[in-house]
Amino acid sequence: MNNKFSKILKKKNRSKIICLTAYSKNIAQIIDRHCDIVLVGDSLGSVLYNYKSTRSVTLDIMIEHSKSVRMGIKKSLMVVDMPHNTYRNSSEALRNAKVIISKTKCDAVKLEGGKKIYNIVKTLIKNKIPVMGHLGILPQSAKNFKAKGKKTIERNNLLKDAKILDELGVFSIVLECVESSLAKEITKNIKIPTIGIGASVYCDGQVLVTDDLIGLNLIKVRFVKKFANITKQINNAIIKFKNEVKNKKFPKKINSY
Ligand code: KIV
Repeated sequence: MNNKFSKILKKKNRSKIICLTAYSKNIAQIIDRHCDIVLVGDSLGSVLYNYKSTRSVTLDIMIEHSKSVRMGIKKSLMVVDMPHNTYRNSSEALRNAKVIISKTKCDAVKLEGGKKIYNIVKTLIKNKIPVMGHLGILPQSAKNFKAKGKKTIERNNLLKDAKILDELGVFSIVLECVESSLAKEITKNIKIPTIGIGASVYCDGQVLVTDDLIGLNLIKVRFVKKFANITKQINNAIIKFKNEVKNKKFPKKINSY
């Protein structure tokens, strides 16, 4: 693993890891200098394409968006989600992960699941493909979107899954909507960093969908905090543009040829 990965691993128990999503070059180049990890998440299915679930996201869609994101990243580690039905067995996963890496030049791929995808993750890592794990709510297979880790059996299984992924050699694990005390326990009991989304302050880092945090995607869920209202700013800019066009104040001579 290269320097970018060791920097992230070294942050465990030292300083928080910052991870955000990007689906295009423009957003990627803004967030790059603030992030440790930029994730091309398959959340783009619902955020950009209005799909009911991430299950409709295809390999081609992920690759095209990732190629755009790649152009905007200079320093962050770039991770690409492997979409649903692209890693149903080890050979399919290896083939598709190689395609993603060669076409997008990303640094790693992210897969959802623990014990169930043991052989798949093992194959990828054996073939030197860096993997980020994802536990808790798994949007590609979820039947409901309730927080995970409230029942004892669920807690035990999640902790086991995290340990399995750690032993396999993934470089970090996203914990999505995992109950706070369990997120804390998992974070304490594995060597690699946990990156939380709706999984408490106890994780080693946090990830959010950028469109949610800047108020461009207008969803209301508990784990999202809107740090800006970009929709309002875009509206204001467009109103100004419209008024200037109507009042013949734009374009001026300086904007004309
Ligand atoms: O698809 C995505 O954006 C994700 C993050 C929310 C972790 O998986």
